[in-house]
Amino acid sequence: MKLALTQLNLSHFRSHIGAKLTLDGRPVAIHGSNGAGKTNILEAVSLFSPGRGLRRASAAEIARRPEALGWKLRGDLQSPGRAHEVETWSEGGAARQVRIDGKMASQVALGRIARVLWLIPAMDRLWIEGADGRRRFLDRIALSFDPDHAEAALAYDKAMRERNRLLRDQVRDPAWYGALETQMARAGHRIHGGRVAALEYLSAAQARAETAFPTAELELQQSEGEMPGSEEDLRAALSESRFRDLAAGRALVGPHRTDLYGVYAAKGVPARDCSTGEQKALLVSLILANARALAEQIGAAPILLLDEVAAHLDASRRAALYDEICAIGSQAWMTGTGPELFAELGDRAQTVEVTEAGGVSSVTMT
Ligand SMILES: Nc1ncnc2c1ncn2[C@@H]1O[C@H](COP(=O)(O)OP(=O)(O)OP(=O)(O)O)[C@@H](O)[C@H]1O
Ligand SMILES: [Mg+2]
Repeated sequence: MKLALTQLNLSHFRSHIGAKLTLDGRPVAIHGSNGAGKTNILEAVSLFSPGRGLRRASAAEIARRPEALGWKLRGDLQSPGRAHEVETWSEGGAARQVRIDGKMASQVALGRIARVLWLIPAMDRLWIEGADGRRRFLDRIALSFDPDHAEAALAYDKAMRERNRLLRDQVRDPAWYGALETQMARAGHRIHGGRVAALEYLSAAQARAETAFPTAELELQQSEGEMPGSEEDLRAALSESRFRDLAAGRALVGPHRTDLYGVYAAKGVPARDCSTGEQKALLVSLILANARALAEQIGAAPILLLDEVAAHLDASRRAALYDEICAIGSQAWMTGTGPELFAELGDRAQTVEVTEAGGVSSVTMT
């Protein structure tokens, strides 16, 4: 079983005025020149999961320019046992709305019916750049296993922002802090638990898999000290840290200070010291492990979005990737500048060509 879009309509979505794709669940190989509108299609699919999608764009940025009135996506999502009609849109730059089977729904509800994982070129520097990106990567993985992870993250950020405001205003009254720290501890403990569980699932999936991609050993690290082990310990740590936090103007303990540390297991080399191609291979390995673990847990392979994934891989690694995707059974949406990048897939994939003229993208299914 797999999760798959069987129909996708884009309306006034970035460079696409109106595009319709009919899919049959096989991987989707999208080719076209630079700027044709390929990544825009992957971004559209990414919005079938909670959040801002793979470019982390605001609803306003996505609206097709110059009209900038709004945009809409409609998709038929096949999930085990049933199909859902999903619509998501934004009007006049307002926050995006979601409707599932004709009823207004939350993004958390969307996360319960769709699981979408992605790898995009901006993530090539994930191991080298700041901890933010790695935390986001980790939280997307945790969210894929537990759709409620997003709720905990929002609750934590909200309470932390309010507490940071108190710190900056140099408020010293303990009563103001207590309630926010209780909220941060509750949400923070859930976030940490979700991350720990996600790493366990990935590690088990990597250990079981026969794969051409290198195993990544992952570990959570705090920027200082240890992550408190229980909700009560986290609450106490936040309370104890108040004085230091006042000086810093922000919270110095908690899951927002966690980093994801990766090692290329076979070589014992930290991911950040690996070659460009090796770093990419580690990410591919992790996304495949995530897909395998999910397929086992929810009984359906997730949708994968692999933007320009073929570009960095030599022909044999590419063939291995395609074989593994087909074995997992995911509807993997992949992009590349030319059809030859997908030759090894043959008729195991559907092919989509995207062209652009006068700022308008067109889609042809072949
Ligand atoms: N809101 C918008 N309205 C109209 N066009 C937009 C909007 N946002 C982005 N575009 C345009 O969409 C075009 C296609 O972008 P996209 O990233 O999908 O290209 P691509 O096919 O993935 O190209 P590449 O091979 O270079 O990655 C770009 O030329 C960009 O300027
Ligand atoms: Mg692109």
